[in-house]
Amino acid sequence: MFRVARVALVVALLAPVPAIAPAQVGSPAGPVPVEYLVARRTDLLKRLGNGIAVIRSSEQRSIEGDYPQDSDYRENNDFFYLTGLETPSSWLVLVARDTLAPQVYLYLPARDSMAERWTGVRLGPGAEASSLTGIEDTRAADLAERQIRGFVRSRTVQGGEFYLLLGKEAVSDTFFQQLALGMGAGVTDLRPLLAAMRLVKDADEMRRMRMAAEVSAKGHVAAMRAAHPGAWEYELEGAAEGTFRSLGAERLAYPSIVGTGINATTLHYDRSRSQLQAGELVVMDMGAEYGFYAADITRTIPVTGKFSPRQLQIYNLVLATQQAALDSIKPGITLGRLGQIAREYMKEHSGELCAPGTCDRFFIHGLGHWVGMDVHDVGSYRTPLAQNMVFTVEPGIYIPDEKLGVRIEDEVVVTATSYELLSGGAPRTAADVEKVMKVKKKD
Ligand code: GLY
Ligand code: MN
Ligand code: MN
Repeated sequence: MFRVARVALVVALLAPVPAIAPAQVGSPAGPVPVEYLVARRTDLLKRLGNGIAVIRSSEQRSIEGDYPQDSDYRENNDFFYLTGLETPSSWLVLVARDTLAPQVYLYLPARDSMAERWTGVRLGPGAEASSLTGIEDTRAADLAERQIRGFVRSRTVQGGEFYLLLGKEAVSDTFFQQLALGMGAGVTDLRPLLAAMRLVKDADEMRRMRMAAEVSAKGHVAAMRAAHPGAWEYELEGAAEGTFRSLGAERLAYPSIVGTGINATTLHYDRSRSQLQAGELVVMDMGAEYGFYAADITRTIPVTGKFSPRQLQIYNLVLATQQAALDSIKPGITLGRLGQIAREYMKEHSGELCAPGTCDRFFIHGLGHWVGMDVHDVGSYRTPLAQNMVFTVEPGIYIPDEKLGVRIEDEVVVTATSYELLSGGAPRTAADVEKVMKVKKKD
């Protein structure tokens, strides 16, 4: 693995050159079809009106120094959304003018045959990059900074409105700050524009999101079947994560949360080191990332496979609260309003369950959040719901004094009139959870 291992290098030199696969080609999800990429860029150009957008890719990290025990290369979400590429040190530049046809430039690092012996064949500027992205004008990345200055200057000379819009990676970059100062350019953050676009999923995004949820639901079922008194939290986590991976998920959407007993009351408990005891509940909040899109699902299960009467009452209150929120979903309503509806429902239906007081005092987090390329995805929470927006509905009750925590988290997509459940593959009702847990994992 390390560069000193010359034997490995000789072997690599003898190996056949692999095909270029920088755009999810060959991945279980497959590449983003070019027509979607073109439509997204066209939409962004329209929103720019009269301006220049610069979006940068992620940077390559070294497997030897930077992430020996961390993660692989993951593309910047906005760059992937607009190009479908996974190419370090690259730039996408969109120039929107009210007087001329819009222009799109893709800057990719020139290929380097020696480096490719270590990292595999890369995509350089040229015909292949054009056919994967639909961007005709591809250029070498070392020209990018000089040419961007040129675009900015020529627009300033022309006068008129001017914005330089920056992508996430670029906001604090000195090149851009100097450029903006030197040119007297207005610098506007590009992220809110892209966030508004990413909130509404297109058909290719929905395909990936459905698969992420489906794969994650199967992982939850595997974890349910791995549970029994004496099992360890990490065994359940391993059962789920192994399932995600074997069904084509390339990463986790977030570190898995598997907490039994008192750990179930820690919202983001991620150590997974405790042993399951009979009589406890386990909160399992686990999701896969499939083709760059996240899933986020939580199920709560009894270690023995059977809820106690008290656990069942709390579980059913959380489930009914979730259903009250789900039933209120329709285009035009906000996530904030759904949160109020859920809280009011829980309060009104608590009875004596959490006396003195009502159970909503143990519902210590928000009802849900947008999901997309990030598990807590971009987008304003003031946005009224519209078709093809995806979010979670995840009420919970956490009572540390009783070592009891329940969270039920599902993912939905907004339809023309209500919602569709994406995470229904994982059992939700107590009876269905108990039924699934009767079928045990085979050793
Ligand atoms: N999985 C983290 C959350 O539900 O927000
Ligand atoms: Mn969530
Ligand atoms: Mn979650």
